[in-house]
Amino acid sequence: MKPEVSAFFDDATNTISYVVRDPNGMSCAIIDSVLDFDYSSGRTDTKSADAIIAFVKDKGYTVEWLLETHVHADHLSAAPYIQDQLGGKIGIGDRIKIVQDTFGKVFNEGTDFQRDGSQFDQLFQEGDSFHIGQMRGDVLHTPGHTPACLTYTIGDAAFVGDTLFMPDFGTARCDFPGGSSETLFDSVQKILALPNETRIFVGHDYKAPGREEYAWETTVGEQKARNVHVGEGKSKEQFVEMRDQRDASLAMPKLIIPSLQVNMRAGQMPPADEKGDVFLKVPVNKL
Ligand SMILES: [Fe+2]
Repeated sequence: MKPEVSAFFDDATNTISYVVRDPNGMSCAIIDSVLDFDYSSGRTDTKSADAIIAFVKDKGYTVEWLLETHVHADHLSAAPYIQDQLGGKIGIGDRIKIVQDTFGKVFNEGTDFQRDGSQFDQLFQEGDSFHIGQMRGDVLHTPGHTPACLTYTIGDAAFVGDTLFMPDFGTARCDFPGGSSETLFDSVQKILALPNETRIFVGHDYKAPGREEYAWETTVGEQKARNVHVGEGKSKEQFVEMRDQRDASLAMPKLIIPSLQVNMRAGQMPPADEKGDVFLKVPVNKL
């Protein structure tokens, strides 16, 4: 089964969102959508999400799922905005509860903030399956970048989020709370155990040095042969040393503070105050 995959690249955050359609019908899933956010002004915009909505409406597709590969730290999810207009169920990994617990503390959320994943419509565990029309999707738990990261395999395609990037760029950072380079290495092995011809769709692309164009589609075979961090039979020790050293030099993503507060709520803003105004917090010296 070969799903039709349409990609939407967000220039501001280098995120790729996907519309994945059952080739034998009109059902689709939307993976990792983006709500535009300008930190300087505190303003949201729906341009990126509206492009996906217009595409889905134009094609006449029915949205069954709004899937998140993880709680993103670099962009806000547009899943609830798209759900309002197109329907579908919002799904994420069951370990979201750990992420909610961690960041509930960082942002000093009160007891009103539920840490049970109940903001989402579906919590997936390793081995769960779901359907997009007649097409089956399967869930692999692939932690390391975050504790709750999932890979969704749908037909011959795998949506790996921020585990693997394009072969010339490597892998995602593992230094967020609950991240682990050792765990990521093991998760990557799970993905590389899929058939060589499996199409891999990555969650971000930053153009590796020397590459002119953005890219987001590769295969398991290419990753095994050429991934600069984990390909060519690199050992776990080699990977962990490289990854930890590199992570120590990386700045926090620009939108991590708003992204976490919104994405741990399944893309909803924190509750409005008594006047109806919405605020995000900036924890000082906590991240
Ligand atoms: Fe991420």
